[in-house]
Amino acid sequence: MRIIISGYIGKMGQIINEAVAADPDMEVVGGIDMKESNDGPVPVFTLPATGDVPEADLVIDFSNFSLTEALMDFCIEKKIPAVVATTALGSEQKAALAKAAETLPIFNTANMSLGINLLAKMIRLAAPSLENDFNVEIIEKHHKMKADAPSGTAIMLADVVNESIEAPKNYLFGRHGKDYKPNMTDLGIHAVRGGTLPGEHSIYFLGLDEVIELKHTVYSRKVFATGALAAARFIVKQQPGLYNMDDVISAK
Ligand SMILES: NC(=O)c1ccc[n+]([C@@H]2O[C@H](COP(=O)([O-])OP(=O)(O)OC[C@H]3O[C@@H](n4cnc5c(N)ncnc54)[C@H](O)[C@@H]3O)[C@@H](O)[C@H]2O)c1
Repeated sequence: MRIIISGYIGKMGQIINEAVAADPDMEVVGGIDMKESNDGPVPVFTLPATGDVPEADLVIDFSNFSLTEALMDFCIEKKIPAVVATTALGSEQKAALAKAAETLPIFNTANMSLGINLLAKMIRLAAPSLENDFNVEIIEKHHKMKADAPSGTAIMLADVVNESIEAPKNYLFGRHGKDYKPNMTDLGIHAVRGGTLPGEHSIYFLGLDEVIELKHTVYSRKVFATGALAAARFIVKQQPGLYNMDDVISAK
């Protein structure tokens, strides 16, 4: 499988590069990043591409939402499926994915780790039974280099709650004030940032005299590469459409 890594020079881009190099069935043939270069082992180009670009079977994208629309145009033009892991996608970027998915298999998730996606399944199981009597709060923690807050994963988990219950809740980002008792119609989402904290997501179901806490911790970014490569193997065999990690887990 010939792969173009979008966000090639970034932290995840380099981890994906190493993971692909260790896989005998995969090969990195090019990179997309803000800075063009022909000095490295593969050509690195910007979008929209002006010169020749390598032939590829798949794009793996860990870059920035500012690139998503141009990236989807590139994939449509070159007929290349994509695994999109970039977070903080807004409605325009999501529309670009949906448009590409009309003609190509497109994979998208805010979190590539198998563990987080199993946590989402557990939430789907728990949330409906606890809907009426338990408050729901999410706390996420990340290192000081993370730009967006709350994390895309925290929003993804909150969305899972809302998709699983009868009366979707309003997202409440942080809490500050003198008269701010929790409301059953709210779902609190809180972000802690600093130092070299590993990525952590906890969801709390808070009831009368009892609490359920489901927590996931990432100790290394390699788990995202493992998930991205599993998504890569899955997506190249699919028909056009939008896919996520649930589809990969179900296919296992
Ligand atoms: N879905 C997941 O499981 C998962 C896991 C980790 C990171 N991420 C996401 O992946 C993205 C990258 O994370 P990172 O830690 O590697 O960040 P990073 O800042 O280290 O790397 C981003 C790379 O993208 C490039 N880039 C940014 N905007 C660009 C543009 N408009 N055109 C071309 N190149 C551009 C940058 O030059 C940089 O090399 C983020 O959105 C992050 O939240 C997702």
